[in-house]
Amino acid sequence: MPALRIAALASGRGSNLAALLGACVDGRIDGRFVLVASDKPNCAALSLAAEAGVPTLALRPAEYADRSSFDRALFDALAASGADLLVLAGYMRIIHPSVLVPWAGRAVNVHPSLLPLYRGLHTHAQALAAGDAEHGASVHFVTAELDGGPVLAQARISIGPDDTEATLAARLLVHEHRLLPAVVSAIASGRIHWNEGEPTFDGRIIHTPLTLDDTGSLLDAT
Ligand code: GRF
Repeated sequence: MPALRIAALASGRGSNLAALLGACVDGRIDGRFVLVASDKPNCAALSLAAEAGVPTLALRPAEYADRSSFDRALFDALAASGADLLVLAGYMRIIHPSVLVPWAGRAVNVHPSLLPLYRGLHTHAQALAAGDAEHGASVHFVTAELDGGPVLAQARISIGPDDTEATLAARLLVHEHRLLPAVVSAIASGRIHWNEGEPTFDGRIIHTPLTLDDTGSLLDAT
């Protein structure tokens, strides 16, 4: 297979993006970035991408009449980039469902919760408030439903008595940085595949999210 052409959307510090860029450079992902775009012109993620020699694009939502015209402009650029895969790597805007249609099975998101628990924001606080014993991160295919597409893989951590929102977020982030590149790598190699709405791993439908083994490889525990 030719190297996967990857585009990303990011709004913030870009640590997941950095993990992906690193995995492309060291060959864990057979892919290359064709575009990193953002709704935040000054975000660190865009600087990281530019430093890595990746084309960048920043669009300001305030310069568009409404949400859907902003999303149309952004997604026109993504289409023009020729990307095979779109990664939402800390992209903090809700995307209009209509522009996602052509990306069905070609867009993934990393979300800091054990989906279907805690869609949206403040996931660490919600896990603490609920008294959960475990927290985690999920990578899922993006659909029109916010944080609602089929989950591909999850990483779990236990919640300790002294954990705060900040400690949980920091401990979990390390796992996100392994999980997201592992999933993108598996998409690049064809191991993860979107089979008309049903994701598969090595040809088997993913009923239960994949996990990571100690070496950072994806594992089908079923
Ligand atoms: C991560 O926690 C990710 O799961 C969530 O937003 C955060 C982005 O962090 N979607 P970073 O910009 O990748 O450092």
